[in-house]
Amino acid sequence: MKYNTSEPINVVVTGAAGQIAYSLLYQLAAGSVFGPNQPINLRLLDIPVMMTVLDGVIMELEDLALPLLREITPTADPNVAFKDVAAAFLVGSMPRKEGMERKDLLAANAEIFKVQGKALDQHAQKDVKVLVVGNPANTNAWICSHHAPSIPKENFTAMTRLDQNRAQAALAARLNVSVDKVKNVIIWGNHSSTQYPDAAHATVNLQGSTKPVPSVVNDDNWLNTTFVEKIQKRGAAVISARKMSSAMSAAKAAGDHMRDWWIGTKPGEWVSMGVLSDGSYGIPRDIVFSFPVAIENGQYKIVQGLAINDFARSKLNITSKELEEERTEANNVLQNK
Ligand code: NAD
Ligand code: LMR
Repeated sequence: MKYNTSEPINVVVTGAAGQIAYSLLYQLAAGSVFGPNQPINLRLLDIPVMMTVLDGVIMELEDLALPLLREITPTADPNVAFKDVAAAFLVGSMPRKEGMERKDLLAANAEIFKVQGKALDQHAQKDVKVLVVGNPANTNAWICSHHAPSIPKENFTAMTRLDQNRAQAALAARLNVSVDKVKNVIIWGNHSSTQYPDAAHATVNLQGSTKPVPSVVNDDNWLNTTFVEKIQKRGAAVISARKMSSAMSAAKAAGDHMRDWWIGTKPGEWVSMGVLSDGSYGIPRDIVFSFPVAIENGQYKIVQGLAINDFARSKLNITSKELEEERTEANNVLQNK
């Protein structure tokens, strides 16, 4: 990477007193995201009433006694939090409760991402890598980028890595292999119940030989219905059981997303990220849509040329239509504020 590894980078985590941050901060401090030689300064943003809780989180961070963790700055001021940051984890926002869809959070959360987009625009490094986790993640990333005109739009991404990890784990369980044997499953579209988890291009390594997942599973009905619906509804299933939304797995996915963006993907492998559509695969432009991407030197490229059959096309249309509707709704919400 271009960064001098002896100099710390500034990393902001919003919603720093919340559930996801509680698991994410350890990964950042331990070097498992930006690498074992990269010191970091942590900027922890939350709202004023959470500052006492944040004090407790900071005590725990200090007590980790981890050498890569340098300065820790707790703040409720976005202008402080985003100063000179190289990476931003935008987690802080209201999570959904049982019975809600993620897009129901737009009214509550859109303003947060407008304010933080402006703060990024004014204070962050121009090459900052922004990962939006707070829901509805894709449309929040879109809002944020539109309020940060001085930062390239490709620097704003939304998290669908949790969906990818869920899909990979579900396929590995079905095939009775460890999860690392399954590669290149794709999440297309929105981080919502319209997403399309696609195993058509996934591979599985069986006793040293790489095979296409669809031919090994050999059950299109399972792949097109049971598997798809399980991943689409997994977030709701966790909420129903825990009475709170996923946190440990979400934090792990956030670390995975940023690590791959920072360090790169292996040749021939891809990961899914919500990124601004450039029209690839006929997806409308100007929505943040999850595509398969390959990453080199800190830059991602949408993987091109994958075959899309009629079934996949119908799924892509549904999820892109929902994202266009969310964009309209976001504009309404922000205009009425
Ligand atoms: P949480 O309620 O435990 O924590 C959220 C934190 O954000 C709280 O401490 C709150 O005070 C803070 N916050 C609220 N407004 C803020 C603001 N303006 N600036 C800074 N901080 C602010 O919630 P959580 O479980 O950590 O989840 C956070 C978000 O992540 C939710 O929107 C949830 O739906 C989403 N999520 C996304 C994914 C994904 O895959 N994309 C997965 C899990 C959860
Ligand atoms: C998840 O996928 O677990 C999160 O987005 C939380 C939710 O609302 O489902």
